Amino acid sequence: MSDSNSSDELTTAKGILSHSFVLFGALGDLSLRKLMPALYQLDHAQLLSKELNIMAVARSAISITELKQRIEHTLNQYIGADELNANSLSRFLQRLSYCKVDLTHAQDYIALEQKLALWHPQITYYLATPPSLYKDICQHLHGANAINEHCRIVVEKPIGHDLSSSKVINDKMALYFDESQIFRIDHYLGKETVQNLIALRFANPLFESQWNHQHIDYVEISVAEEVGIEGRWGYFDKAGQMRDMVQNHLLQLLCMVAMDPPSQLTANSIRDEKVKVLRSLQPIDQDKIGTHLVLGQYTDGQFKQQPAPGYLNEADANTSSDTETFIALRTEIANWRWTGTPFYLRTGKRMANKVTEIIIHYKSNSHYIFDPDQAEIAQNKLIIRLQPYESISLQVLTKEQGIDKNMQLRRDPLHLDFAQTQSQARIPDAYERLLLEALKGNQSLFVRRDEVELAWQWCDQIRQAWHRAELPLEDYSAGSNGPQQASNMIETHGHRWYEHCNEAK
Ligand code: BG6
Repeated sequence: MSDSNSSDELTTAKGILSHSFVLFGALGDLSLRKLMPALYQLDHAQLLSKELNIMAVARSAISITELKQRIEHTLNQYIGADELNANSLSRFLQRLSYCKVDLTHAQDYIALEQKLALWHPQITYYLATPPSLYKDICQHLHGANAINEHCRIVVEKPIGHDLSSSKVINDKMALYFDESQIFRIDHYLGKETVQNLIALRFANPLFESQWNHQHIDYVEISVAEEVGIEGRWGYFDKAGQMRDMVQNHLLQLLCMVAMDPPSQLTANSIRDEKVKVLRSLQPIDQDKIGTHLVLGQYTDGQFKQQPAPGYLNEADANTSSDTETFIALRTEIANWRWTGTPFYLRTGKRMANKVTEIIIHYKSNSHYIFDPDQAEIAQNKLIIRLQPYESISLQVLTKEQGIDKNMQLRRDPLHLDFAQTQSQARIPDAYERLLLEALKGNQSLFVRRDEVELAWQWCDQIRQAWHRAELPLEDYSAGSNGPQQASNMIETHGHRWYEHCNEAK
């Protein structure tokens, strides 16, 4: 590819809006459900470069007219009628081109390169394909001379299924792209409330001064999913909830909660701090495995008043499998800020409700002077809700009103509901933010190689320990809140999941 453009804006891969976007796997589920709608929304909000061209790459022999019809149909499906504006739609469709490529055929990339050679060389390649194809795609793009120093590459999880396989993928990408050109997606980092965590923590001295083991009793990160396996049994059964959710999304949330303030809001300052957290994360070794970890698998149950199959009765399932669809664990971060404050992580599929929450359970007063029966409620809690209904709520204690109430305490929320407080602004989907930042070359919301590898190292160690200990898999009914053993585990350590905090002991 020609690299002769002398424009100043091409002197660096960072900080410049890309003008060429190439989407591999353009007719796949992720592209149609998430990426095309996100690109449309960015275009509609006039956030894309006017010159941006989008090359859809897939295996099907379809014409550009057919592609545009498909994308229009998809946008109608996933975007509300009030947001689908005729002018924006026509502008967006005009940006699209199509190239048929069999991703394993080196030859096909020559035709792709010939088309791209006519475009602006600041190209962002987005690989919405299985990770097993990353190696071929990078190698063939290189073979076709379609990579230059201004290119970026965006890749989806999973980066491997353990530390060694992730290194293989990272090594392959590193042959053709510098780390500063690689954007590894964890879509949780694009969620509005995750971004708000940075503002909440580092723009409010009130919180930051109390954000440590002296004031915080324990931290809970709960990601309950309503979805079951949704036709992905083959993939999921090899992964399990540890690899599918904990290794990436939950650990990223943990890092955002636990990291020290970055010296600046730059990609590497933020990622350096996250790496320090991952390095300090305590292993769950053999002697702790029985008291710090619970694994579960859902059985037949009821979901929203309808019968719901158990994991082993899902479409395409094997009749036996010991893959975990639920996991709850206790870990600690061995550093000055957090030693002595446990972090509890919990996530499961086919649970009663979809809720993602981070709960900061503050310590009680060291000298308590109110009614001893109310001691249980006398703990402040900060509830950061990522989904649904993004909000931040601080539970504070006041006195019940009335002269007959003496000093009876009540707990009320100071509540920030983002949908209401900022009702003029729609909450963007995570992929909109991530695509925009990738197009701008800002890596802050993307995962660096050392983060991925440290996360795998920690998860691998726990998986090995549970296999050695032959930890039992606990049943929970589809549509429930997970196995009772998860509550027993946290209570053994003197704590409770948020939803049980008001129950009498
Ligand atoms: C994906 C996992 O990364 O995240 C899925 O592979 C999971 O199994 C999904 O359901 C959850 O994302 P969200 O945004 O719906 O919480």
